[in-house]
Amino acid sequence: MTTKRADHRPAWSALASHAEAIRDTHLRDLFRKDPDRAERYSGTAGDLLVDYSKHRITDETLKLLLQLAREAKVAKARDAMLAGESVNLTEKRAVLHTALRSPPDRPVRVGGEDVTPAVHAVLDRMAAFSEAVRSGEWRGHTGRKIRNVVNLGIGGSDLGPGMAYEALRPYADRDLVVRYVSNVDGTHLAEALHDLDPAETLFIVVSKTFTTQETMANATSARAWLLAALNDDEAAIARHFVAVSTNARGVRDFGIDPASMFEFWDWVGGRYSLASAVGLSLMVAIGPEAFREMLGGMHTLDRHFAEAPLDRNLPVILALLGVWYRNFLGAATHAVLPYDQYLHRFPAYLQQADMESNGKGVDRDGRPVAWATGPVVWGEPGTNGQHAFFQLLHQGTDLVPADFIGFARSHHPLGRHHRMLLANLLAQTEALAFGRTLEDVLEEGAPKALAPHRTFPGNRPTTTILAPQLTPSVLGQLIALYEHRIFVQGVIWDVCSYDQWGVELGKVLAGRLLAELDAGKADPEAHDPSTRRLLEHILTLSKSG
Ligand code: F6P
Repeated sequence: MTTKRADHRPAWSALASHAEAIRDTHLRDLFRKDPDRAERYSGTAGDLLVDYSKHRITDETLKLLLQLAREAKVAKARDAMLAGESVNLTEKRAVLHTALRSPPDRPVRVGGEDVTPAVHAVLDRMAAFSEAVRSGEWRGHTGRKIRNVVNLGIGGSDLGPGMAYEALRPYADRDLVVRYVSNVDGTHLAEALHDLDPAETLFIVVSKTFTTQETMANATSARAWLLAALNDDEAAIARHFVAVSTNARGVRDFGIDPASMFEFWDWVGGRYSLASAVGLSLMVAIGPEAFREMLGGMHTLDRHFAEAPLDRNLPVILALLGVWYRNFLGAATHAVLPYDQYLHRFPAYLQQADMESNGKGVDRDGRPVAWATGPVVWGEPGTNGQHAFFQLLHQGTDLVPADFIGFARSHHPLGRHHRMLLANLLAQTEALAFGRTLEDVLEEGAPKALAPHRTFPGNRPTTTILAPQLTPSVLGQLIALYEHRIFVQGVIWDVCSYDQWGVELGKVLAGRLLAELDAGKADPEAHDPSTRRLLEHILTLSKSG
């Protein structure tokens, strides 16, 4: 049983009072009084430099936030997770994505058993398979080389590998077409397959449970597409379908040879599974060596998280800053703004990681929480966002803390492009923090009536994360940084970060509605009047088409 509710901890009320005292303090004043803060309020882990000086904090804020972390027993919770204890309370499971990137000589035990040998055995099988596909040794049923790889999965079985594939394209075999199909909307599969030759296409069906409606529907239709082109020869399945799952029976029942199944384990949460066999499509694309570099980067951050003292532990500090804005300064959302086109799916990936983990309304004892939990996470790559929603970030009425992620070197420097990109990144964080006062605007000669419109309040907090270049290792470091940030926030908010019961009700209701859509008839006794009317409208429209 949790003893103290999150908002009853002494540091919580101290932070609430401190927030009142500091609410109107401007970053302009903080920097004026404390010119060294950029040096003090930044840290490194692996290749990452994290500057958190443009936050509305003082030494006192950090002291209280760290006290909160200690009162919430963050270090103890972290150690329990890393030691393989059943920290996923509602599902009674360990949470050990860190074991997936742990070197072979570092045992990690679940229920007394070292899981590292099994982890590395699967990695070795994945590597052998990836090499076979990449070299052309693994051929399609008719003897043709595999040129297309289609990952069929959704949520954690799609977003991680899909995001990382996009991020690591410079490392990918450009002769391979790699696509990700997740949506049950047939359009997604149809568009992904329309220009592919079935004889050269490999499907990787990824589902932890192997029961997910969307993935099973896509896999079934993909199989039909393949067989239609290959004389309905069921023997073709073995050369064109492999599976990634924890459910061997489900895989067999679907008709995929268990020998073509890549295993992972119930102690790997779907949204934390990229480092497992779920990353198979990525490994095929970038090769085993680059994949292992990514794992190495994750491990670097795992060690940092496990070993760095709390006041220099970057995932802990970033988590605490998030708590500061969410719970004490009223921010409802958190923006992630990568200044790198290759990271264009990173915000979407983090949305699942963060919102499915900490979007919870009861504490670990099942009592409704009286404090805000996970924020809405969103974002787009820079500089595109600047011409879309940055207006609101600069002058809107909401406080939106934002992470800016950038790299000193580009894979495509193209003239001045990269310097322009970086100039924009830095300019935005500067403008958000320091703004432009009414006096400045008037002094620069703006007409009086326009001056308020051209004033920038500033005091908008940002974190800047810089690395030398977006490499597999750096991507791994970034992913682990955010994963551990999410964990720490879950501990402070006292929520169960590793379940996702909130997705279940919709699945059940969709099942009932699907039966009615299949029958072409709405059940007059089922549903609320709005849903029933909408269902009837759809049935009428679809008949008249
Ligand atoms: O419904 C949500 C969810 O369970 C996610 O947590 C998960 O990543 C996704 O569905 C896919 O699940 P599976 O890998 O079992 O198909």
